[in-house]
Amino acid sequence: MTGPAGAARSTGARGFGIDIGGSGVKGAPVDLDTGALAGERVRLPTPTPSTPEEVAKVVAEIVGSFGWTGPLGVTVPAVVTHGMTRTAANIDHAWIGAEAEVLLREMTGCDVTVVNDADAAGYAEVQFGAARGHHGLVLVTTLGTGIGTALIYDGRLVPNTELGHLEIDGHDAEHRASDAARDRDDLSWERWATRLQHYYRTLEKLFWPDLFVVGGGVSKKADKFLPLLELQTPIVPAALRNEAGIVGAALLAAGGDSKR
Ligand code: BGC
Repeated sequence: MTGPAGAARSTGARGFGIDIGGSGVKGAPVDLDTGALAGERVRLPTPTPSTPEEVAKVVAEIVGSFGWTGPLGVTVPAVVTHGMTRTAANIDHAWIGAEAEVLLREMTGCDVTVVNDADAAGYAEVQFGAARGHHGLVLVTTLGTGIGTALIYDGRLVPNTELGHLEIDGHDAEHRASDAARDRDDLSWERWATRLQHYYRTLEKLFWPDLFVVGGGVSKKADKFLPLLELQTPIVPAALRNEAGIVGAALLAAGGDSKR
């Protein structure tokens, strides 16, 4: 079981979160009072093709293996409005326009809430992670294959901000500044930090956040690039890392914020 040290004492309330990614579908029960996983995390490979129907079967398998029947939160790397997925990043294009919430409800028998992956991770960071206890505007960015963003004001999520797609100097920001771009262009930490500086400076000028939180796998190596940035806004690495999506999805499904 994992979770932030010194978290609140649990009253036993449980939720369940599933994180759908380009390569894996991960799920676990979550202690809703502490943000800790309440059981072993299960990971199955994302099926090929990664259509909604095929992925829903994998989600149902994971949920079924726990005998879970309660509210279920599911993240997707996509814009989600009213239960419908509207875009698709690193998953099959059949997700565009899919009634994802209805499909997953039918497949699992659970009351399903589908949310954007960065929104779930960001919400978890504000509730139980690096931005815990922060008031005002928190802007969480996940640096991975793309750049995901979550905007949270006084603990309330503004969904689907998609600021990884800000156009900067004629480029889609994530194409220049994601972790995948660092790999693709074989950038040193310094060269990548120059791109990040430009990106976060632009976000800062547009949103004036009180805090930036940087998530995604590369946040494990935050000491290599965060100290190179010169910003007015404090910027800190995510605390929940791998588990943030699962935890945030479970919290949002349990009605932790606007259940849309
Ligand atoms: C997508 C977002 C997603 C992010 C991280 C972006 O390319 O547009 O919806 O949150 O990648 O997966």
